[in-house]
Amino acid sequence: MKVTYYGHSCFLIEAGGKRLLFDPFFSGNTLAGSVRAADIHCDYVLITHGHSDHIGDLDAVMQHNPSAVVVGIYEVHVFASAKGYTTHPMNKGGWWSFDFGRVKMVNAVHSSSFHDGTYAGEPAGFVVNTADGTFYVSGDTALTRDMELIPMTCPPLDLAILPIGSNFTMDYHDALLASGFIHCSTIVGCHFDTFGYIKIDHEAAQAAFAAKGKELILMEIGEQKAF
Ligand code: NI
Ligand code: MN
Repeated sequence: MKVTYYGHSCFLIEAGGKRLLFDPFFSGNTLAGSVRAADIHCDYVLITHGHSDHIGDLDAVMQHNPSAVVVGIYEVHVFASAKGYTTHPMNKGGWWSFDFGRVKMVNAVHSSSFHDGTYAGEPAGFVVNTADGTFYVSGDTALTRDMELIPMTCPPLDLAILPIGSNFTMDYHDALLASGFIHCSTIVGCHFDTFGYIKIDHEAAQAAFAAKGKELILMEIGEQKAF
């Protein structure tokens, strides 16, 4: 699997022969000034929830990738299909087999609405199982015991992308507990530093993981890493 970080919670993951983009948001991120929608090539756009720091650049990405399929909870599908995009609706607990592998939509504990306040369904996470590996993108979430269901119902995780910025989501202490719940010791952090509310001490966060024999990876914006 090849992972490219575009800042905040936006990642491109190449797995199963396809390019999966998660939570497109960069033009509103002052830290991600070098990221351009025109440079992002994807086959699927997976949306965890309707907040603008997760879908703010959906239209720009779709303009450059008109054949990409938007995957999200039912209400996100309604929203995206009304824009004329090809979509795949899911809801929590369900699996679907795509041409790159299987996806399970799992619970997230957070809120969800579109920018104008309309209902965006509920927030969700994704477990993606491909021939290249299995990974979990939790989306914005608090620590929740529901994460313990993942190792009970999904193939073993090679990688998990978890929020660590606190205020709106888990902090890194809770993400460390989450890594135990999901039986995954390789964690990529997201949802940190973008705004004043979520600035973190990188060294302290990584040291907390290292002290438990786990790895917290904090990617640079634009960085690509193989897993
Ligand atoms: Ni959110
Ligand atoms: Mn968010």
